[in-house]
Amino acid sequence: MGDVKVKYYITTPIFYPNSSPHIGTAYTTVAADALARYHRMLGDDVYFLTGTDENAQKIVRTAEAHHTDPKVYVDGVVEHFKELWKALDISFDDFIRTTEERHQKVVQQIFTKLYEKGDIYKSEYSGWYCTPCETFWMENKLIEGKCPNSDCGREVELLKEESYFFRLSKYQDILLKFIAENPEFIQPVSRRNEMIRFIEGGLEDLCVSRTTFQWGIKVPFDPKHVVYVWLDALINYISALGYPDGENYQRYWPADVHIMGKDIVRFHAVIWPIILMALDIPLPKAIYGHGWYLTKDGGKISKSRGNVEDSFALIQRYGSDAIRYFLLREMQVGTDGTYSEDNVVERLNSDLANDFGNFVSRSLAMVVKYREGIVPSSGQDGSLEQDLKALSHEVKKAVEESLDRCDPASALEQIWRFVARCNKYVDETAPWALAKQEGQRERLDTVLYTFVECIRIMAILTAPFMPGLPPRICVLLGKDEKLMRWEDADQWGIVEQGTRVHKGEALFPRIDVSQYTIAEETKPVNQEQSQTQVQSQEQTLVHNETLEPIQALEFEPIKEEISIDEFAKLDLRVAKVLSAERVEKTDKLMKLEVEVAGVARTVVSGIAKHYAPEDLVNQYVVLVANLKPTKLRGITSQGMILAASQGEVLEVLTVNKGLPGGARVK
Ligand code: ME8
Ligand code: MG
Repeated sequence: MGDVKVKYYITTPIFYPNSSPHIGTAYTTVAADALARYHRMLGDDVYFLTGTDENAQKIVRTAEAHHTDPKVYVDGVVEHFKELWKALDISFDDFIRTTEERHQKVVQQIFTKLYEKGDIYKSEYSGWYCTPCETFWMENKLIEGKCPNSDCGREVELLKEESYFFRLSKYQDILLKFIAENPEFIQPVSRRNEMIRFIEGGLEDLCVSRTTFQWGIKVPFDPKHVVYVWLDALINYISALGYPDGENYQRYWPADVHIMGKDIVRFHAVIWPIILMALDIPLPKAIYGHGWYLTKDGGKISKSRGNVEDSFALIQRYGSDAIRYFLLREMQVGTDGTYSEDNVVERLNSDLANDFGNFVSRSLAMVVKYREGIVPSSGQDGSLEQDLKALSHEVKKAVEESLDRCDPASALEQIWRFVARCNKYVDETAPWALAKQEGQRERLDTVLYTFVECIRIMAILTAPFMPGLPPRICVLLGKDEKLMRWEDADQWGIVEQGTRVHKGEALFPRIDVSQYTIAEETKPVNQEQSQTQVQSQEQTLVHNETLEPIQALEFEPIKEEISIDEFAKLDLRVAKVLSAERVEKTDKLMKLEVEVAGVARTVVSGIAKHYAPEDLVNQYVVLVANLKPTKLRGITSQGMILAASQGEVLEVLTVNKGLPGGARVK
């Protein structure tokens, strides 16, 4: 690394504190945080700004509805924002509020400067205003007299007033030229094309002051006017740095990237660059507009529409790292993402518990079992180790490229290629077999050493996304966080031989979805209850962290082939469990009454060690319906219930989408 650090300035939008943030709002901030953390790991001089946009008319309306003063109202909501960012491990360097004096004075200075320059002029305005969107519309743009914004469609008000206007039209061609010459300026490319078309459609001068209300920043030379909220808001990106002569302004401007949702790209791609051009200061290097998180039925998660997720409860339930992972992984570039709690649980169970957590616990358990937890020295690499190393170079590079494009989803996808490869490496090397063979000591040493290195690399690569992980993994590896340097993400041989490692607890305990129904959208689950769910989980699903899975990995051999016709002879049906009781004088057998297509049957099943009778009642299980009846302990069993098992763990197969008893399984 050279002496001069590369600076990296990243911002989120400043959010309207008219109500608390929700999981959609959180996406942008988590994405910006991942980028900021990544750049810090690169050794860059990072400045990460977020904040709140408080001078909007909708704030006044909301405060009125709460019978309180706007400032008092936003002070309360701003605390919620800060708490949420803390809960999500957001590492912002500054939080700007547009009601702060440091911001207001810069807005006034800039307004005056643009007025003196002739880029702002006084005239009269008549138009239709949509308060939720804080936007004026020309009459001919309205759709059936309502706001034409496709996400909105609400009532607009006719406003006629003396106003100041900003000469956007004057800058139209220079702006188009700038966009043409700077292909990276608006990202991704779909947004860029959209903006070019929009600007080519013609820019009208923008009304930038209001006289009908007083909340906001006053025009200094004409104080019956307050500054239009977007002009005010955009300036936060430089007022926070102390424009025009603050040290941070000299050091960090122009921004490397402004991240935001697609809804506000238009303001950042048109008004903001024109303000900067008019001030004769450099434009940001990039503005990035991501998609929206929508609900499962395609609806909007929005503050003003009321279906706000209880983000705090979610973080409590699943942990900040899992929520961050979900948000970053699920939203693909240029498209919208689907948010639902089931999706969160699915990702957590598959990507984090199964793939990531399981590799860490399996491999450390083997170091503990075969080498008393002391990292051995590595012998000669075989082709499997060479493969892993080659993949690590490829993946690190791909992750860097993805993050340069502000694309955390594909960065994570790449990282999970490595995670998957590590899991495969365990199966391919079969250390439990090596341990039993003569003359394989050095080979086993190499494999175990490689495991530890894989964990270290996985922790480095995921650190920007899940900042809670490295400290936990460092404890397992008996190391401090100096081990977490980005440049070491494809270097091997870093962990020293002789290091003591620990098995620890599962990094991501599985969430047992069969044990409870996931809360619907707006219904927060009682926190205590959810805590115990997670704990009982940890106890029942031991296979994540103990040695059992390794021994259990010696599977039963696959049976000889059968034809499709032979398979078709099996008649499998959904069966509803009506009642269940233990068979006396056995600890294994359970007697079940089940219903199949309206007919009751008795089935005896060897599951009594694993289930309590009340756990089975009203479950829909799978029954082999055409098995010849057989007598067990004097009871005739009319069929057999399907269950999966490995080692000590057994799970009865159930069907959960409301199919009736009698439905065919094939
Ligand atoms: O527009 N999915 O503030 P705002 C993804 N104050 N992102 C979402 C989202 C969702 N469902 N919901 C909100 C404003 N966002 C202005 C900005 S900047 C100078 C002024 C995120 O509170 C996304 O980043 O309406 C979107 O652009 C932003 O919140 C809008 O926040
Ligand atoms: Mg909005």
